[in-house]
Amino acid sequence: MFDDVAPKYDVVNDVLSMGQTRRWRRIVVEAMDVKAGQRVLDLAAGTGTSSEPYADAGVDVVACDFSLGMLKVGKRRRPDIDFIAGDATRLPFADNTFDASTISFGLRNVNEPKKALAEMLRVTKPGGRLVIAEFSQPVVPLWRTMYTEYLMRALPAIAVKVSSNPDAYVYLAESIRAWPDQDHLAAWLQEAGWESVSYRNLSGGIVAVHRAQKPAGPADGPAAGAQALANHAGPVAKLRRNITRPGR
Ligand SMILES: C[S@@+](CC[C@H](N)C(=O)[O-])C[C@H]1O[C@@H](n2cnc3c(N)ncnc32)[C@H](O)[C@@H]1O
Repeated sequence: MFDDVAPKYDVVNDVLSMGQTRRWRRIVVEAMDVKAGQRVLDLAAGTGTSSEPYADAGVDVVACDFSLGMLKVGKRRRPDIDFIAGDATRLPFADNTFDASTISFGLRNVNEPKKALAEMLRVTKPGGRLVIAEFSQPVVPLWRTMYTEYLMRALPAIAVKVSSNPDAYVYLAESIRAWPDQDHLAAWLQEAGWESVSYRNLSGGIVAVHRAQKPAGPADGPAAGAQALANHAGPVAKLRRNITRPGR
């Protein structure tokens, strides 16, 4: 499916988000807070739009995705970026490779998102950061109702006019509705072994940006995710106590 939408992917996104994607992406880059020369993994990078700001700032960014169609469009546009084919649930990188990892509007598309969170933990250096941008749940009920109407009615109708594969946008609407809310995703991060988990809402919660850090201690290596899961064994509600939420 991503191979099909690749050629017009960025234009369609701008139209459907009414220009908001640029602002959301700027906030993600600020949250990553990486410096020139550092090594960053941009997972599910698609055409590399989410990777470009890092490359422009002199950061050594690796754009990884499993859609060859998306990678091809990206490489044509930005030959200077390192595009690598790889599956988020079995990353082709050694343990502790990256200073920071990020995934924008991609985790929801991964078949086994919890595995991807464990894999990103494995390949990130101890003390390294993770930033996730993903569609989420608007917090104010009226805004949530209006947004759901947009998703389920207006978005598929607009997609018919601007996209070569409107069905992909029906899938988009359905996958957003089925995706866990802000607190739930934060709990998944803790389960996977990430620490200092926090999030902020953008556009009233249409998008959430989650931040977390890999423990600096001995919980490195391939077993880090499993070990952390064992350490945190217990109800999700218990994990949720340590999440930093907006306005706290
Ligand atoms: C909506 S695009 C996001 C692209 C880019 N990060 C952005 O912000 O524009 C989602 C991407 O996730 C990729 N994807 C889905 N499942 C994946 C997996 N298991 N491993 C790697 N990439 C995956 C798709 O190929 C697609 O390019």
